[in-house]
Amino acid sequence: MIGRKAAGFLILCLIFVALVVWTRACVMNEKVTKNDSGYNYLIGVSQPNLSEPWRVAMNEEIQQEVSRHSDMRVIFTDAAQSSEQQAKDVKKLVGYGVDLLIISLDDPVALTQTVSSVYENIPVIVLGRGVTGYDYTLYVGTDDEMIGRKAGEFAMETLGELGGKIIEMQGLAGSPTVEERSNGFREAIHNSKLSIVQTMNADWQRDLAEDLLTDWLKDQPEVDLIFAHNEAMALGAYRAVQKLDRNDINIIGIDGVNSENGSLQLVSENKLTGTFTSPPGGKEAIRYAVDILNKEKGIPKKVILRSQKITNQLEGKGEPRVTHSPAPTLQEAQSPIVLGFAQVGTESGWRIANTKSVINAAKEAGVELLYENAEQSQDKQIELIRQFINKKVDVIAFSPKTETGWEEVLKEAKEAGIPVILSDREVNVSDDTLWTAYIGSDFREEGRRAARWLMQEAEEGQSYQFVELQGTAHSAPAVGRMQGFKEVIQTDQNFTLLESLQGDFTKKKGKELMAAALKRHGSAINVVYSHNDDMALGAIEAIEDFGLRPGKDITIISVDATKSALKALSIGKLNFAVECNALLGPQLMKAVKDLSEGKELPMKIITAEGVFTQESAKMALASREY
Ligand code: AHR
Repeated sequence: MIGRKAAGFLILCLIFVALVVWTRACVMNEKVTKNDSGYNYLIGVSQPNLSEPWRVAMNEEIQQEVSRHSDMRVIFTDAAQSSEQQAKDVKKLVGYGVDLLIISLDDPVALTQTVSSVYENIPVIVLGRGVTGYDYTLYVGTDDEMIGRKAGEFAMETLGELGGKIIEMQGLAGSPTVEERSNGFREAIHNSKLSIVQTMNADWQRDLAEDLLTDWLKDQPEVDLIFAHNEAMALGAYRAVQKLDRNDINIIGIDGVNSENGSLQLVSENKLTGTFTSPPGGKEAIRYAVDILNKEKGIPKKVILRSQKITNQLEGKGEPRVTHSPAPTLQEAQSPIVLGFAQVGTESGWRIANTKSVINAAKEAGVELLYENAEQSQDKQIELIRQFINKKVDVIAFSPKTETGWEEVLKEAKEAGIPVILSDREVNVSDDTLWTAYIGSDFREEGRRAARWLMQEAEEGQSYQFVELQGTAHSAPAVGRMQGFKEVIQTDQNFTLLESLQGDFTKKKGKELMAAALKRHGSAINVVYSHNDDMALGAIEAIEDFGLRPGKDITIISVDATKSALKALSIGKLNFAVECNALLGPQLMKAVKDLSEGKELPMKIITAEGVFTQESAKMALASREY
């Protein structure tokens, strides 16, 4: 009898255990099984740590934005500051079957391979802190070099004419974010009376920053300012100066998170002298994730968010002062939305394709386009923008001929409350809130890509002499392509620049300049680096007229990768083309529509671009749109 009872009890226990195991399996399954629970998309978010308030804010934004999509779920992981753990977390997320990975890296060097292998199978959004290379779908974050530069200018303002001594508190050594913030800061204070007396790496961590500084400051009476690369370390710096009773030291941070111990609060409590916002980007990451998963066309490669300067100079209500007023957004749009577009000219095949793309995309999007062409005259382009302001269009877009000379007209547009989108080319004005967004390429990166290919193809020990055919003087593509190329090529002694010649992005000018260069240097020229295809095609004709073989006797590299360039590549007259995406129309119309729906635009939307060799051009030629 007792035996039967015990057996019955045992069976009951077994059923109970089985039920528990089954229920748990269901819970686990709920995390990883799609569709049966009414959602289509599972997003994995991998964080390197959650000790920084900035990362907590990032997850909150992600969660909030995901909750707007009933067909989407998200799983978060926290690697507690270990790259090894982060690699394991990513593997686990992929194992759960995530459709898209969002990853914010602490050590990009250690994790680049992990990101690349995930990218082979599913889309990857890199959030906040960047990776090197191109093996990811989209980067969402800030322009760290620009933030560093602004921090440097603020340090100069703060310390005034007498200057002073600075400690730079950096995040993880070797990360691109650290390098860019540091380069920008150093560039800004270069040639001033400010000097960096000590650089420390506190791995983005508050406590490490506090310990390092406490140690160092004990024996160093002369420090005027600490520039901390994030707000956690800025808080650590604040704690150290408090402990040592060194309230005379100014502290500048980065992040501007509005939470307890976030730098917005630290500034308003006067614990920091100022901070630069680095929006976490969680909201934008999910918005773009939706577009990526829905296979929308024209997904950019980089989305750069706007940073603002917050200082401890208090305003009326005791709120920290936002020094820069925001860029204009659209309050109320007409129906249909009216877009005034001032094109720069018709100088190249690229430009003609760009114009077509804008006109067609406007038609498709139902945007009323007022299209005008400035025919390469900056005065005319300014005049056209003024006409758009008078007509009270909803949005103005233009491709600025040059980088400078736009302050006045942009101020007029801002005063009229009209958002301005820079299409294809950027401007260089002291107040970047005079324009609302930039949509186009990263010209400096295009130049770097051209130089990297040349260095990789070069024969060891051989020296090369090159001629550079530059685009329109002082235009953003000419400046960026020149700087990027130079930055890379100057690291190799085997390359010597014979001449940089200023063309206008036209075939005619390219031919003339090349013919003249050949007269001066003859076959001493080994390489031509042309800032666009039209000038390269002109140079090819000049080289043939001179009796040399383009692509063989002289290596030719070009930027744009239009159909004509791909043809020249495929018959061996051109050697390499870096793509500059001309089809900006759809992204421009998307931005205009977003504005009309009251959405805030990112500061910069950088298009995805590739490169073409003679082999890949042959394959791409048939389907090339322009
Ligand atoms: O601004 C983009 C540049 O302008 C293109 O590379 C060039 O061809 C054009 O005219």
